[in-house]
Amino acid sequence: MPIWDSVCPQELAELTWAPPRDKQAEAAVKEDTSRSVENKIKVENTSSQSFPTGDAKKGAGLFKTRCQQCHTVVESEGNKIGPNLHGLFGRKTGSVEGFSYTDANKQKGITWDENTLFEYLENPKKYIPGTKMAFGGLKKAKDRNDLITWLKEEC
Ligand code: HEC
Repeated sequence: MPIWDSVCPQELAELTWAPPRDKQAEAAVKEDTSRSVENKIKVENTSSQSFPTGDAKKGAGLFKTRCQQCHTVVESEGNKIGPNLHGLFGRKTGSVEGFSYTDANKQKGITWDENTLFEYLENPKKYIPGTKMAFGGLKKAKDRNDLITWLKEEC
């Protein structure tokens, strides 16, 4: 009997079709990677349109050294020299109960989010003329970015 009779037809089919199938698989993988690269680019684009994620660890250090003497982000710790920052994101300026704000801070009338904080923290006295927050500002964009990233996680 001819030799190919001893080969199971399914195996034979697999043997015959293996190379094209592999190529197909390869093509699929290629397609997948290109798609995921595309997705990545898309994600990067949207995040740069809103707010790039910073280094939260560095942000925690900045809060400790630059803000903590006057603020806490822990709800139960209440107000210190400055108002409690718990729940800050999405809140209007000057709305922490029991904190005695300046009119300037109360009347600023913006909502705290990444973008308003980014501008405020560069130079608080410029953003809110008349504020009593005695803080010169974080001049480096990266510092503000890191701090806001941390605040967003903690507040
Ligand atoms: C020396 C004390 C002090 C330091 C340091 C300080 N703050 Fe303040 N902060 C205040 C005071 C006081 C106010 C209220 C200002 C007012 O009523 O005019 C305030 C207000 C704010 C507000 C507005 C809150 C609201 O409800 O409208 C934010 C946000 C804020 N501080 C964030 C920070 C961050 C972040 C840091 C660190 C980078 C910081 N502050 C450093 C004292 C301080």
